[in-house]
Amino acid sequence: MTAPASAFFRQPVYLFYRHTMYLIVKYGHLTFVAFTFILFNLRVGLRQAMPAKPLPKLLRILPHLNDTLLLITGLWLIHLTRWIPFVNANWLGVKLIFLVLYVLWGALALRIAPRSKRGLFAYGMAMCCFAAIVLLAWFKPLLW
Ligand code: HEM
Repeated sequence: MTAPASAFFRQPVYLFYRHTMYLIVKYGHLTFVAFTFILFNLRVGLRQAMPAKPLPKLLRILPHLNDTLLLITGLWLIHLTRWIPFVNANWLGVKLIFLVLYVLWGALALRIAPRSKRGLFAYGMAMCCFAAIVLLAWFKPLLW
């Protein structure tokens, strides 16, 4: 008689594999989070310091690559943790809403003329959204 498929998913070898994957993907996610913060601030900072100079090509490509990896590791974490936004993890749903707002404010901050009040405001809003994302992910509040 063959064992049911679900028995496989309770095997120590499988559980060990899953736990190891979780740690690798989670620390990968955190690394891309740090890079996203650094790359965004670097771009805003360079535009403030040298408004007339266009950003170096590397700083126009690297953030897209990093953000793609951030998204992939985020989706992978959803798969591994089985946290589903607005189903069993409201914090994650709200986090993703703030993520969209962060992208929008961030894109605005990089489009508006540097050293302008509106540009500074957009940058401030992007940073507030980023802080909200990190706090929601870190503390995972129950919300409602
Ligand atoms: C700017 C974008 C993002 C930031 C700043 C961010 C930040 C974080 C941080 C700091 C954690 C770790 C929390 C902890 O150690 O307890 C985390 C975990 C997580 N993130 Fe993100 N994240 C971002 C994007 C995403 C995206 C796009 C997704 C999914 C599509 C995602 C899904 C997750 C999940 C499911 C976890 C839970 C992992 C766990 O704590 O076990 N994240 N995020």
